[in-house]
Amino acid sequence: MARPTTIHVCSSCGHTEARWHGQCPGCGEWNTLVEERAPAARAGGGAAAPRRAGPAAVPVALRDVRAETVARLSTGIGELDRVLGGGLVPGSLVLLGGSPGIGKSTLTGMATGNLAGAGRPTLYVSGEESAAQIRMRHERLETEGCRALDVPVLAETDVDAVLATIEAHRPAVCVIDSVQTLSAADLTGAPGSVGQVREVAARLMRAAKTAGTTVILVGHVTKEGSIAGPRVLEHLVDCVLQFEGERERTYRTLRALKNRFGSTSETGVFEMRQGGLVEVLDPSARFVGEATGKPGSVVLAAMEGSRPLLVEVQALVSQSEIVPPRRVCTGIDRNRLALVLAVLGRHAGVGVGTSDVFVNVVGGVRVDEPGADLAVALAVASAARGVALGSPAEAARPLACFGELGLTGELRTVGHPERRLAEAAKFGLGDAVHPGSAQTLRQALRAAFGAVRPVAA
Ligand code: TYD
Ligand code: MG
Repeated sequence: MARPTTIHVCSSCGHTEARWHGQCPGCGEWNTLVEERAPAARAGGGAAAPRRAGPAAVPVALRDVRAETVARLSTGIGELDRVLGGGLVPGSLVLLGGSPGIGKSTLTGMATGNLAGAGRPTLYVSGEESAAQIRMRHERLETEGCRALDVPVLAETDVDAVLATIEAHRPAVCVIDSVQTLSAADLTGAPGSVGQVREVAARLMRAAKTAGTTVILVGHVTKEGSIAGPRVLEHLVDCVLQFEGERERTYRTLRALKNRFGSTSETGVFEMRQGGLVEVLDPSARFVGEATGKPGSVVLAAMEGSRPLLVEVQALVSQSEIVPPRRVCTGIDRNRLALVLAVLGRHAGVGVGTSDVFVNVVGGVRVDEPGADLAVALAVASAARGVALGSPAEAARPLACFGELGLTGELRTVGHPERRLAEAAKFGLGDAVHPGSAQTLRQALRAAFGAVRPVAA
């Protein structure tokens, strides 16, 4: 009997079965069996065969290893290059995740167009759209530097056909839009299933290394973050980029969740316009300019990687009609909001009780740093009291702040206070409330409501 070429592996306990089962016979979990190629059928083969000891390999002292400077490929998009850590690394695998309609195809279309404009061979593989549909989008992206219509496209869903094309044309950069639409014919799983996505990515990675091609895998992420795909690829790829924002809004942020060749703390800000994505080079100016300065509004002096960023945090506290009341936030962590509300109530006498609380970081930006605590606290306190922050004389000007909240109501220092203060001062918000000007949340509230002006930085 011929050996089966695929096996089914439980993603929960690792149990293997020849056939697919709804429930894993190993651990009893449901829907965890994933189709994979049988070890003997894998390239290189022999994983299942008993190993014989070969000649010992010689380890090399790190001091004697020749340091390599990786030549990076610029995508011609400054914000993208910065988030990547200085551009694309040849032969690497990059995963670009984001919800549908966020602009992944637009971003990769612009990047390949720019590369084509710089004389680099590129390839755009689409399993979602026809060549004619891609042409329509690329027509809008075409500019003098962005030769979007010079990018060769391949409308294909069979991964092996894509591999052959990469091998034959050896592009510098190849975009796969999206990884969920490709499939390997020798696996029975549907395109987009965990087994398929893993196998497709693994084959593309081998091709990337041999051809020296940088492969950008586009992956759809659903709202809940449960993805038939990208999450299972995170360990495999060199770099995971996440494109975020609200589809209806114009701002988009790009962040690295994993980066073998750079930091993961950089954020790129874009705006979706008629002619594609436009880099927002000075996002602070935008966000401060749009800040309302009304009750419930405060400006957070945040750090996004190596750069300070001023963003508006808004809160609304209103009578609730449901039990338990709503605690809704966008742009900050839900648990962080719960903590801030508890500290506000316990240590600063600002209880929101059974009211609904909504907190929003304006512009679709996500702030994942403890320095956002104080901004959330001040915005909620201001919303609860219906009083604008800052001294009455300067009511029109928003108040800036930053700082982490401790469980005992103290304000804790966060990284780069000087850079945050300098950024705030640059936009005329020098009277910021921060751990250097107030030691406790109570003091910060007093300063923020204008009873005591904090010492200007
Ligand atoms: P798209 O890049 O197709 O999103 P994704 O690949 O992540 O699903 O584009 C998303 C939206 O952006 C789409 O609704 C159309 C809009 N758009 C513009 O506003 N301007 C443009 O120049 C382009 C190309 C798209
Ligand atoms: Mg798309």
